[in-house]
Amino acid sequence: MTENELKRMVAAAALQSVRSGMTLGLGTGSTTRFFIEMLGEKMQKGELKNVQGVPTSEATAALARSWKIPLVSLDEVSTLDLAVDGADEVSPDLGLIKGLGKALLREKIVEIHAQRLLIIVHEAKLSTRLGALAPLPVEIAPFAARATVRWLATLGCRAELWCDSQGQPYVTDNGHYLARCWFDGGIPDPEKLARRLSARPGVMEHGLFLNMADEVLVASASGVYALGV
Ligand code: A5P
Repeated sequence: MTENELKRMVAAAALQSVRSGMTLGLGTGSTTRFFIEMLGEKMQKGELKNVQGVPTSEATAALARSWKIPLVSLDEVSTLDLAVDGADEVSPDLGLIKGLGKALLREKIVEIHAQRLLIIVHEAKLSTRLGALAPLPVEIAPFAARATVRWLATLGCRAELWCDSQGQPYVTDNGHYLARCWFDGGIPDPEKLARRLSARPGVMEHGLFLNMADEVLVASASGVYALGV
């Protein structure tokens, strides 16, 4: 099975949780793209009605609009029934690394408002220790960005400002930069690291999503299974 087939399969499984009338948090990334396309298709066929979405990035907003999925801002709704998003890495206790799609700040703001956060991944994203597979993305202020990256490198990782092929820092939808942090063998204490990052001026948000996911759907060659807390 190809990676895209796995992503499609898990996106279809997530769609089973969507009911007419729901307000959804719409994640960002290639797995969520399949979910949004399938959602749009179902809405166009009239199989789902009155569903509206809160997008987690400009890219997701554009995709949802192209499928005529009604969008609302988080400011306009009091609660999200469900948020569906991908992840870059998942630990056994449903801790996540997210943000390699460059949307972590809006993802976290939106998903913290969801009554249920459903994560969709394929098996290659599962690890025993966060950071063992993926670098940790950190959204940082452009002001003194390199000084912030130097501080990040004191946290037991190799840290880099995330730049494009021309050497220009990527700019997020929020006008910030991103750093990536590689931890050899994984992050020893994700909770402690999350606290240190959150307390640091210049760090706008980090890609550790701890105690947020309610359920993770995992696509494997033998089908989709759920990890729940
Ligand atoms: C976006 O910023 C990320 O948090 C994505 O959810 C993550 O990169 C997963 O993307 P894929 O579904 O493309 O692997």
